[in-house]
Amino acid sequence: MTTILGITGSLRRASTNTGLLRALKEMVPTQVSMEIADLHAIPMFNEDDEATTGKPDRVKALDARIRAADGIVIACPEYNFSVPGVLKNATDWLSRGGSPFRWKRLGIVGAGGGEFVGTARAQYHLRQNLQALQAITMPRPEVFVNHNEEKFDAAGNLTDAETRRHLAKWFEAFLEWVEKRP
Ligand SMILES: Cc1cc2nc3c(=O)[nH]c(=O)nc-3n(C[C@H](O)[C@H](O)[C@H](O)COP(=O)(O)O)c2cc1C
Repeated sequence: MTTILGITGSLRRASTNTGLLRALKEMVPTQVSMEIADLHAIPMFNEDDEATTGKPDRVKALDARIRAADGIVIACPEYNFSVPGVLKNATDWLSRGGSPFRWKRLGIVGAGGGEFVGTARAQYHLRQNLQALQAITMPRPEVFVNHNEEKFDAAGNLTDAETRRHLAKWFEAFLEWVEKRP
């Protein structure tokens, strides 16, 4: 059994990025299982707190889930042309004391409300962060969903058939990246 952990970079209840992960979960083939993790309740990283109380339990739990998975998918929203603070903050915590992403096969997807680039700028900043965390991020194909207001319903569920087809092709390539380790 291949295990995949999806991590959403949005805390929003009707998040379209969490919706992308739910759509992937619906597509898993029989030999694959997938869980979705969120970043709620992770405190702001502060080296003083780290020195006095260590890693918060919430971070330790996420760290363990990442280590246990064969592959990681991060759904990355774009805030002000970059990675949202909650996601950057989580990767900063996770980088401390040995990154759980080290040599881990990882893929990035993202959905945004923008006209053209569909979170590409944020995804490329995230790729740069993940280099520091020693993840092995799949180079391509890529998923940049734009105009998310037309492609998801009000609850953040993916409704656009073409996007779903593209996502399915991406997932096939990603699972090959994880399972066959090309
Ligand atoms: C603070 C903030 C900054 C944003 N900046 C961008 C941006 O730079 N580019 C973009 O395409 N969308 C931007 N957006 C719109 C988000 O992409 C959109 O709200 C998206 O739905 C967020 O992802 P979610 O649905 O998973 O929560 C921004 C939204 C917020 C709240």
